[in-house]
Amino acid sequence: MISKKILITGGAGFIGSHVVRLFVNKYPDYEIVNLDKLTYAGNLENLRDIEKNPNYRFIKGDIVDAPSMLKLFNEENFDGVIHLAAESHVDRSLENPNEFVMTNIIGTVNLLQAALKSWGNDPSKRFYHISTDEVYGSIDGGLFTEHTSIDPQSPYSSSKAGSDHFVKAFHNSYKLPVLISRCSNNYGPNHFPEKLIPLMINNILENKQLPVYGKGENIRDWLYVEDHASAIDAIFHKGKTGEVYNIGGNNEWRNIDLVNFLCSLMDKKLDRAEGTSAKLITYVKDRPGHDLRYAIDSSKLQNDLGWSPSLTFEVGLERTVDWYLNNKEWLSHVTSGQYKEYYTQMYNKR
Ligand code: NAD
Ligand code: DAU
Repeated sequence: MISKKILITGGAGFIGSHVVRLFVNKYPDYEIVNLDKLTYAGNLENLRDIEKNPNYRFIKGDIVDAPSMLKLFNEENFDGVIHLAAESHVDRSLENPNEFVMTNIIGTVNLLQAALKSWGNDPSKRFYHISTDEVYGSIDGGLFTEHTSIDPQSPYSSSKAGSDHFVKAFHNSYKLPVLISRCSNNYGPNHFPEKLIPLMINNILENKQLPVYGKGENIRDWLYVEDHASAIDAIFHKGKTGEVYNIGGNNEWRNIDLVNFLCSLMDKKLDRAEGTSAKLITYVKDRPGHDLRYAIDSSKLQNDLGWSPSLTFEVGLERTVDWYLNNKEWLSHVTSGQYKEYYTQMYNKR
């Protein structure tokens, strides 16, 4: 018997596919509906192992299409929404900000409107918006808390901040039961190789240059993607509506240190002499407006909801590298065609 029907948007993407898998396997009495436009970042190969489960359904759809979102919510009577669909890459947002406004802001408002029309302010429903620590901007010392002011610096983070404000506004103005979480940098299996870690893994495999932006001194706080998924599970089920929860790994790395660590791990895995991959490191032109440091305080989530990360970075990174080594077909599919054009456009001019 189905006890809840949950809509997950962006479930064919990197994080979304891990969230869909967790919910489908852990809650056999839930019906999980995955709505995804299948942009360059959406990939149904990420979900092959669960696509035939009786409690899972895929719908190809675009959150920017307001009438179809209203129709969907009218027809389906969802109990909750976990909203991950987004344009997610900072470098792409610098080239094409409009796309980010459309998907991340307009798309989110379309979902909020559809949920409000269908649910009113029914407190048993949950609209859970997945956001990012990048909305806080860059921090020199200390950690981002849920009270840090919003100060986005890139078109990507500005669009995410815009969507966060709309989610809050629907709670304040119409009492829509919402939740927001802001997570630090994720890594793990199925990560599209436009982002730092999978791009470096792919380039090491192909003996290509490893493009480190600027001096490689920027700092990110890395969290294994399955730990983000378990945090989303905890917040969706136990979080207090109207609240924001930070999610992070307490795991800060300077980019250059991370890339060197990855090089040495991959030298071992590939039976190459120590130092072989690090020779590929090339410093390239910096990202414009590059945020120097993100660091997040997730003590509210840890203390109130009992969540904590399950893996050390060393274990998570080795698991990630093993996944890419064992899934070369996946990597070759996503790095053919369009990706080659993207890579040339982004890196040849650097
Ligand atoms: P991703 O780019 O891998 O996946 C995004 C998914 O959204 C894709 O499957 C894509 O097809 C889908 N999508 C895009 N536009 C759509 C539209 N108009 N309608 C329907 N589907 C659409 O992104 P990700 O890294 O998995 O990030 C997921 C969410 O988590 C995003 O909201 C992102 O802002 C947030 N987030 C990401 C990270 C990270 O490190 N990757 C960290 C914190 C928060
Ligand atoms: O903090 C959460 C955010 O993390 C998410 O909201 C975003 O969706 C996600 O893309 C990620 O943003 P970043 O910009 O931090 O991730 P990215 O992997 O693009 O870059 C990580 C760091 O590595 C950043 O300082 C830029 C640098 N970098 C990145 C690439 C792709 C390089 O030096 N070289 C590269 O080729």
